Amino acid sequence: MTPPPAPTMAAHSNAVHGGRRQHVLLFPLPYQGHINPMFRLAGLLHAHGFAITVLHTQFNAPDPARHPDYRFVPVPVPDGSPVPVAIEDVVAQILELGVACEAAFRDRLASVLDEYSRDAVACLVADTHLLPIFEVAARLSVPTLALRTGSAACCACLLAYPMLFEKSYLPVQESQRDMPVTELPPYRVRIGEDDGGLRLVRELISRAMPAVKTSSGLILNTFDSLERRELEGLRRGLAVPVFDIGPLHKLSPAVESSLLLPDRSCLEWLDAFPPESVLYVSFGSVACMSPRDLVETAWGIAGSGVPFLWVVRPGMVNGSADDHRFPEGFEAATRERGKVVAWAPQEEALRHRAVGGFWTHCGWNSTAESVCEGVPMLCRPSFGDQMGNARYVEHVWRVGLEVGGDLERGRVEAAIRRLMTDEDGAETRARAGEVKKAAAKCTGEAGSSRLAFDKLITHMMSL
Ligand code: UDX
Repeated sequence: MTPPPAPTMAAHSNAVHGGRRQHVLLFPLPYQGHINPMFRLAGLLHAHGFAITVLHTQFNAPDPARHPDYRFVPVPVPDGSPVPVAIEDVVAQILELGVACEAAFRDRLASVLDEYSRDAVACLVADTHLLPIFEVAARLSVPTLALRTGSAACCACLLAYPMLFEKSYLPVQESQRDMPVTELPPYRVRIGEDDGGLRLVRELISRAMPAVKTSSGLILNTFDSLERRELEGLRRGLAVPVFDIGPLHKLSPAVESSLLLPDRSCLEWLDAFPPESVLYVSFGSVACMSPRDLVETAWGIAGSGVPFLWVVRPGMVNGSADDHRFPEGFEAATRERGKVVAWAPQEEALRHRAVGGFWTHCGWNSTAESVCEGVPMLCRPSFGDQMGNARYVEHVWRVGLEVGGDLERGRVEAAIRRLMTDEDGAETRARAGEVKKAAAKCTGEAGSSRLAFDKLITHMMSL
């Protein structure tokens, strides 16, 4: 067993912990939408005086040079084990990843514990998708907090899975498609039995909740005024404490955890546009689109006449590494009012005064980032929790509109106009402004998320 690299001590000495239990270990799931909140949490804990040790896979490994105050411990996947490389089967990759790094994680964790002394380690925080990591930590008597990077509503839905089977919402019958799930409003019956990868999704779900239930507590990147009902439901349904300390990117110091290099030139480009006039378009770090949908979206955006900043990341069109191709004439038609980048500094783009709408896939981070900046959304969810997030955006928080059905240029054009220039859009924008204020209250002085963070620290010190 190779010893882990030597520690670099945290910049802050610890007033609160008096030198005892000053280490927090973190194990993120190595995907962008999971890395970002975990590093935000690391930033918060570090600012609070904890020394941070990040255990990580070599797949999508973090760059230690960006976080000189943290210690990084790679967890290698043994030769011959499946190493996730292809983006298409993310769920299969996630399942394989936890299993593949289990043995190496046990060695690394044991070695870190020897080195720091068990008593100096407050806890491990791990992503709930990594059930084997929770099991290993439990065997080594390390208390583990579960970070779920989705919404409280999504977590409540996973918790309700047995009920969904009991009441025959699942497995889905064709006749039930789109029926409301009365016990879990505003969810509808959506996933079809024939959906690709459903078996794997179920497996992932069936592992996520045991990770939460056996953990020493659940950390959620959400906030009270957005999801009070869902949080109360979770607290009733779970025996472990729940800490709603989001949106983490508003509580924690800025951090650079992008896997792709953000093209910052788009911020300067935005400067030239009037307030709230530009549509920001991004489908996150995983969702893909077909070449046909790219063409329809492009013509729809062009036809709307609305200025736009569009993130088309490498591999986004059909998961192919080849460059995407816009339809002929699109670039010439939109040159004056459109910019396409491979990756944007999204939080800053959403904060820019020129951005007035977000066409999003409704990944939880994107949703939370948009909510915090009061940017109304056009929702085009792709898979997993994104569907439920879109339902909440449109029907509960009323800060966006869903674009359903096949992507056709006329429909895209109409949806963009509806959000950016019509009366509907004005109402949604006003509502987004209200929710932004509520978010700021939760993350402000003595706000619910700050109080929840204080409770989390007290809890961590008691483990
Ligand atoms: C995935 C799932 O799709 C999502 O449903 C789940 O909640 C988390 O994991 P992802 O596709 O990565 O999420 O989307 P999202 O959760 O929105 O996270 C993307 C992150 O990348 C955001 O923090 C966003 O700010 C950042 N981003 C995205 C950029 O920094 N630049 C970009 O150009 C696009």
